[in-house]
Amino acid sequence: MPTQSTIPVVVNGAYGKMGREVIKAIDQAPDITLVGAIGRNPELMGQDIGEVIGYKPLEVPVMNDLEATLVAAQSEGLAVMVDLSHPDSVYESVRAAIAYGVRPVVGTTGLSNAQIRDLAEFADKASIGCLIVPNFSIGVVLMQQAAQQAAQYFDHVEIIELHHNQKADAPSGTAVQTAQMLAEAQKTFNTPLVKETETIPGARGGTTPEGINIHSVRLPGLIAHQEILFGSPGQLYTLRHDTSDRASFMPGVLLCIRRVMALKSLIYGLDKVL
Ligand SMILES: NC(=O)c1ccc[n+]([C@@H]2O[C@H](COP(=O)([O-])OP(=O)(O)OC[C@H]3O[C@@H](n4cnc5c(N)ncnc54)[C@H](OP(=O)(O)O)[C@@H]3O)[C@@H](O)[C@H]2O)c1
Repeated sequence: MPTQSTIPVVVNGAYGKMGREVIKAIDQAPDITLVGAIGRNPELMGQDIGEVIGYKPLEVPVMNDLEATLVAAQSEGLAVMVDLSHPDSVYESVRAAIAYGVRPVVGTTGLSNAQIRDLAEFADKASIGCLIVPNFSIGVVLMQQAAQQAAQYFDHVEIIELHHNQKADAPSGTAVQTAQMLAEAQKTFNTPLVKETETIPGARGGTTPEGINIHSVRLPGLIAHQEILFGSPGQLYTLRHDTSDRASFMPGVLLCIRRVMALKSLIYGLDKVL
């Protein structure tokens, strides 16, 4: 049970690869209390989430009714929903959380720009804080900041993102966000020097509206990795970040849970709340 001084949190996608790490991190945070765990597998309904993830009993049952769980969470005090589920369902889940007055911290990637704009409007109208964070890792924020600096001096840049092969969306939310941050340099990247022909469609990757190519690699053995390559005549400047354990995301997740409590609108990106 949360005490008055702890933040009640519901985790959507509770026993997924990220969700299970978040459950453990919350259990170890003295100012945050897990009050709800959402999953879809009917065989796990009602089971203790701590036991389901092989951790320890937490006395929080797995539920599949998101709305009922949000209502119950809100009755414990101003609550937060951490969403680490799936691109297909995240938009509806975040809208539901805002509608019930629960602050979303959204790690799930794959939301379109139009969906993010719509959620921003909805959160604004409801005066409910919402954080959408394509990457909870501090190392990625630092890499993106270095990339923004480099974008002032280099006119050619491509992004390679590499993830495990169970990732549902491509390119990664981090790569899309990085391209958007590079675009803030307000210049034209990658002006072609020759007429390119792809003998295998997609060989040059996907191109963002900013003209930045993103290449997505999916392989078992990977977790989450990204390279940003800047080129100019005679030099290559490479920035790279590697996630070797999902524990690296947890300080960012806990920080966002704490920060979202004070917000009244939607904010996109960990860099904005550090
Ligand atoms: N922001 C970050 O730093 C960060 C870092 C890593 C990953 N991510 C993102 O977080 C999300 C979750 O990643 P993950 O690796 O934990 O995935 P995962 O292992 O597949 O877990 C996803 C969980 O979401 C549940 N879920 C809810 N609605 C679903 C639907 N419509 N379709 C499928 N599953 C659904 C699944 O429950 P059932 O098993 O009951 O179906 C599953 O337990 C992804 O979008 C990923 O890109 C973000």
